[in-house]
Amino acid sequence: MANEKEEKAEIERLRREINQHNYRYYVLDSPVVTDAEYDRLMKRLAKLEALYPELITPDSPTQRVGAKPLESFGTITHTIPMLSLANALAKEEAIDFDAKIKRLLDMPLNGQIEYVAEPKMDGLAVELVYENGVFIKGSTRGDGYAGEDVTSNLKTVRSIPLSLSPSAKALSTLIEVRGEVFLPLDSFKKLNSEREKAGEQVFANPRNAAAGSLRQLDPKITAGRPLDIFCYGIGSVEGASFQTHFESLEFLKKTGLKINPLVKVVTGIEAVLDYHGEIEKKRDSLNYELDGVVIKVNNFSLQNRLGVISRSPRWAIAYKFAARQEETVVREIIVGVGRTGALTPVAMLSPVIVGGVTIERATLHNQDEVERKDVRVGDTVVVQRAGDVIPEVSYVVKEKRPHNAKPFKMPDACPVCGAEVEKDGALHFCTGGLSCPAQLQQSIAHFASKRAMDIDGLGEAHVVQFVDAGIVKDVAGLYSLTKDDILTLERWGEKSAENLLDAIERSKHPALDRLIYALGIHGVGEHVSKVLAGAFGSIDKLMTADREALLNIREIGPEITKSIQDFFSGAENAKVIEKLKKAGVEFKEVKPIEKGVLSNKIFLFTGTLSEFSRDEAKARVEAAGGRVAQSAGKKVDYVVAGGDPGSKLEKAKTMGLKIISEDEFKTLLEAGALKTM
Ligand code: IVH
Repeated sequence: MANEKEEKAEIERLRREINQHNYRYYVLDSPVVTDAEYDRLMKRLAKLEALYPELITPDSPTQRVGAKPLESFGTITHTIPMLSLANALAKEEAIDFDAKIKRLLDMPLNGQIEYVAEPKMDGLAVELVYENGVFIKGSTRGDGYAGEDVTSNLKTVRSIPLSLSPSAKALSTLIEVRGEVFLPLDSFKKLNSEREKAGEQVFANPRNAAAGSLRQLDPKITAGRPLDIFCYGIGSVEGASFQTHFESLEFLKKTGLKINPLVKVVTGIEAVLDYHGEIEKKRDSLNYELDGVVIKVNNFSLQNRLGVISRSPRWAIAYKFAARQEETVVREIIVGVGRTGALTPVAMLSPVIVGGVTIERATLHNQDEVERKDVRVGDTVVVQRAGDVIPEVSYVVKEKRPHNAKPFKMPDACPVCGAEVEKDGALHFCTGGLSCPAQLQQSIAHFASKRAMDIDGLGEAHVVQFVDAGIVKDVAGLYSLTKDDILTLERWGEKSAENLLDAIERSKHPALDRLIYALGIHGVGEHVSKVLAGAFGSIDKLMTADREALLNIREIGPEITKSIQDFFSGAENAKVIEKLKKAGVEFKEVKPIEKGVLSNKIFLFTGTLSEFSRDEAKARVEAAGGRVAQSAGKKVDYVVAGGDPGSKLEKAKTMGLKIISEDEFKTLLEAGALKTM
């Protein structure tokens, strides 16, 4: 079949092209195609591979994710041990290192050694093994002799090529590459804030996050964490040879592996010291953590002459940066009150400069955390910053504790409103509800926030101003604000007051799920709000839903059920809802989705829908028991085509899938409609 031959050739072509785009995007950071075009190529490849599964190779770009979870990790022995580095903590130690090398090599002290100076990334060391240019296995450093087999997880790291560049393939039959896997700082912050929101333990620093992510038994979890790598060396190699370390790095670069662009050849110790200073200055502008620079003798024959002592090479040293940990004293532990009333102890510190930034406070999270670290007022503590992450108290220097220091205890009354404090799990809560000014301010700020009612230009500082001045007493109060009210406050002018009032007016027609989310019911985040909107169709029905009805909804458990019922049974909340209605806030009704009406049906969306965001559409399908696919496939039951549909629609047509309009989708969501389709 000519067609078959063509398609097989296309598979090859697509792989080459996708690998090239991957390289441009993840290694060079300069993509030449749009994400949409990249997706198109990937989908085309996946489709062809589905037609010819026998042609799927382990290094195909489609094979990055998808490996099954493991029971435990296997072990991989390193052909050549992975050594560790001796440290230099001060300039003098770096100078000694250079002097010692010259002595060992019988060189005059005024001679100059050629070094390669590299950033020392703070992640975890791995070894990647390529056979005939194909990535076949990868492992952690472990004890230096053998590490864990994390091949499937490493495959999910986009900057690790699954096959080396074609020109390099021919040069080397086997190459073991060493490098540092790390989690970029922006991804680290995002991951931690997601974990915090989900009530999960946050990672202490990016290195722990990278290690935790790479050591997952389920590669799908690793795939969701955008790990990255910089390669810095070679273990055993066949078919290629190098005179210098720098040459070997240049080779790795040519093969398509990622090398830190700040690596530099420097001659003499003075140049090493300058490099250290330069990189330390750059440190805060980088999107990954560095803890120093690594200095390596460039010439391999000199390296061999110098050899190894107690598992560290004599030819290299880690010249560390000043620690980002400092000692200071806890002057006071104050207790903050959040939107939900949760109390957070915060250590107020004697100001101290940590890694160039003055630190005066650090969150202690909750009572359990304070007890675990046993932090007391008067204690000397070590505080640390990981990147520009929020500073934290690392540990207490117990020897320096004043003898009268008392253990911290959460107050019995809310420090802001005086209401009683209740304990729930690890957290303490103020029971004052919205009569507590702290809770009130934050609830209003939440209500107005972008993903809730989206009142443009109403920030937290303004809310504090309005609440303090007594002109807004609950969320509904925002809708009775007048220009005169606002103009009595500082920093407001005619124009800014008018803009705010316009924005408040514009917020009066929220989608039902946003309105539910805006109410700030404990445990009801954006997703749950969508599920509730889909299940009940109106605030009134949600308000009157009994326990049974709530528990009947997939994803809604007893805790959320209780919190919803508590919320609506509060007289204050019912009043506020009444007031919102009176103020003209539209309480939209949508047709509730009958549970299970789309049971096991798979939907694919393409183009823009006029009445739903993608998230909403997804939540509604899921609330009715269906699922949403990301790409066209045989299992898709309905392709919903919105305005300006993408290439998915074309593909769906060629595959003969059932295509429906947004209106038909809406009908389908209604109970019983399925039977007529
Ligand atoms: S070279 C014998 N180069 O630091 C040379 N290591 O204690 C061994 N690291 O385990 C490593 N950046 O995890 C080298 N540019 C770099 C590095 C680097 C980070 C880590 C690596 C190693 C540890 C050394």
